[in-house]
Amino acid sequence: MLDLANVQAPIETANGLPNACYIDPAMYQHEQNTLFRDSWVAVGFGKDIPQPGCIKPVNFAGLPMLLVRNQDGNINVFQNVCRHRGMILVDTAKQLRGPITCPYHAWAYDLDGALRKTPHVGGPDIHAHDSVKHCDYPLNAVRAHLWHDIIFVNIGGTAPEFNDYAANLIDRWGEFEQPIYHGGPDSSFGFTLDCNWKLAVENYCESYHLPFVHPALNSYSRLEDHYNIMDTPNYAGQGTMVYAPQISDDGRQFPNFGGLSAKWDTGAEYVALFPNVLLGVHRDHYFAIILTPDGPEKTIEQIELYYTTPHATTAEFDDMRATNSAMWRTVFAEDIQVVEGMQKGRHAPAYDGGKFSAVMDGPTYHFHKWVAQALCDN
Ligand code: FES
Ligand SMILES: [Fe+2]
Repeated sequence: MLDLANVQAPIETANGLPNACYIDPAMYQHEQNTLFRDSWVAVGFGKDIPQPGCIKPVNFAGLPMLLVRNQDGNINVFQNVCRHRGMILVDTAKQLRGPITCPYHAWAYDLDGALRKTPHVGGPDIHAHDSVKHCDYPLNAVRAHLWHDIIFVNIGGTAPEFNDYAANLIDRWGEFEQPIYHGGPDSSFGFTLDCNWKLAVENYCESYHLPFVHPALNSYSRLEDHYNIMDTPNYAGQGTMVYAPQISDDGRQFPNFGGLSAKWDTGAEYVALFPNVLLGVHRDHYFAIILTPDGPEKTIEQIELYYTTPHATTAEFDDMRATNSAMWRTVFAEDIQVVEGMQKGRHAPAYDGGKFSAVMDGPTYHFHKWVAQALCDN
């Protein structure tokens, strides 16, 4: 294992994670066996399985999973593999009218994972056999929790309850614990990044790069309008005190969330909940980004924007939602050059993890420390 002790030194003397954490397949495998297994990772959005019977296969860091909306409207997550001979059960998202049926020998499971049918298992036209008790072979469930429409899973099954894991952030944003409404097709987009997933987190955490990478954003939300957020171990980010974007030419505004305190009149916050979720809250919309690692040097980014009321998702606001999406798309696209540039830089052997600004890089350093700790815990 790498020596990560100096990553956890005080920020003035610490170095960042070494190159191997970004480029080495063995380290990527180690992450799967430690920090991804032991934490709550985000694997999808509730909006992508909207109705009972909707199912969607997802892959997270090598683990095939199946997201399922059951008859009661609740979400189940299973390993996407048949209990018979291990066939992948589902390869495309769809809405089922009946059970989840394996394409190989047609064993069938209900939406809660129970094995219901085993055709010809006892010979032609004999659909039962004493050695295959249905109750012994349900789909393997993955521990799951839905928060702000994000489907989190704890693959290892031993993390604290999600509400404890994320308690400080839930607390910090308690005013936003209210219903959210997805903005529709325009409010959904993504990027494929040629970089390690951690670089996307690290870049998201800090506002230091705003003047250089996001000149348009910086023109109304300047460096000095931002503050760092890093009060507890498993999230970090930054806030702005001047959230006031120009979304319409005629002064129209989106409806706001109800009951917000004055802080949010002009404030907004952007936080990474470790390891792989990037979130933004504003008085009039919310967004979430899931980072799905696809090998050490590739990351899929899925971005979803939500609004405050059903009214905000009607045709009356179509143009404004499109403008808002385009604005965020531009901002996130501007970040691609730097996260991919840092990835290329990780192939320079003399780079030793780098040097933090003790003032401006605090939240990024905070994430490095969390990763170092999570990798060593095992
Ligand atoms: S592998 Fe699924 S029914 Fe045989
Ligand atoms: Fe950025």
